[in-house]
Amino acid sequence: MFNLSGQIALVTGGSQGIGRAVALVLAELGADVAIMARTLEKCEAVAEEIRQAPGNAGRRAVAVRGDMANPEEIKAAVAKVAGELGPISILINNAAITRDGLMLRMKQADWDEVINTNLTGVFLATQAVLPMMTKARKGRIINLTSVVAQMGNAGQVNYISAKSGLIGFTKAVAREYASRNITVNAVAPGFIETPMTAVLNETARTAMLEQIPLKRPGSDLDVAYAVAFLASDEAGYVTGQVINVNGGMYM
Ligand SMILES: NC(=O)c1ccc[n+]([C@@H]2O[C@H](COP(=O)([O-])OP(=O)(O)OC[C@H]3O[C@@H](n4cnc5c(N)ncnc54)[C@H](OP(=O)(O)O)[C@@H]3O)[C@@H](O)[C@H]2O)c1
Repeated sequence: MFNLSGQIALVTGGSQGIGRAVALVLAELGADVAIMARTLEKCEAVAEEIRQAPGNAGRRAVAVRGDMANPEEIKAAVAKVAGELGPISILINNAAITRDGLMLRMKQADWDEVINTNLTGVFLATQAVLPMMTKARKGRIINLTSVVAQMGNAGQVNYISAKSGLIGFTKAVAREYASRNITVNAVAPGFIETPMTAVLNETARTAMLEQIPLKRPGSDLDVAYAVAFLASDEAGYVTGQVINVNGGMYM
């Protein structure tokens, strides 16, 4: 079950948090993995962790620098990965930022930065990778959205607009590429313990936890396992879906 040997995965934002856990799990299941983010040293650290992990003998892992808000850097990063590892067969669109603020006070720069990174960057990375998948007549694209795209949340209009956009994007591309045997799905995490949520104050944490029937925050691995399923051959009949990993926060 879930054997990813021979697959080549690109994980954007794979240097920490959920992306790191996804990179480690995909590698453990046999995939060669490329880790992309803006801070190259942190990507290199995860690539090294993969190469050194017991049971990962022979696994290839590479680090590549790229900013998801920069179209040229996305194209260059994808080309570099394909050059070093071969055609990408699994794309995990995970990198994202928050620039929270109440609607009336939000600067347009904060709106633009979040939309460019979290939505336009996904469009560009997917566009760069699709020709390889189309040629191979096989591919897996997994987009990280969020529970707040389904529920709303005060102070996150930019982030939620991007993450809701990703749900529509997922369904549109899933329909367009189903005939090429490329599946496109989204994973919607709830409240997960990562550097992104470590900045929340105690009041916000408590308010979040009160909404979770399973009464605990999720872990990066809780999300990574759902991503790994969608990346596997076993998920070949699943496309255009949003898989919720949220402890029951939204059902
Ligand atoms: N944590 C949660 O509770 C939660 C809940 C729902 C959804 N999610 C989603 O899950 C995904 C991962 O979240 P996380 O909590 O693991 O985030 P995180 O800890 O903040 O990590 C974000 C990753 O993305 C990279 N990144 C950020 N901006 C980038 C850019 N412009 N270009 C390239 N890489 C960039 C970061 O590295 P650099 O800064 O070095 O670039 C880092 O590797 C995101 O899509 C997030 O929206 C998370």
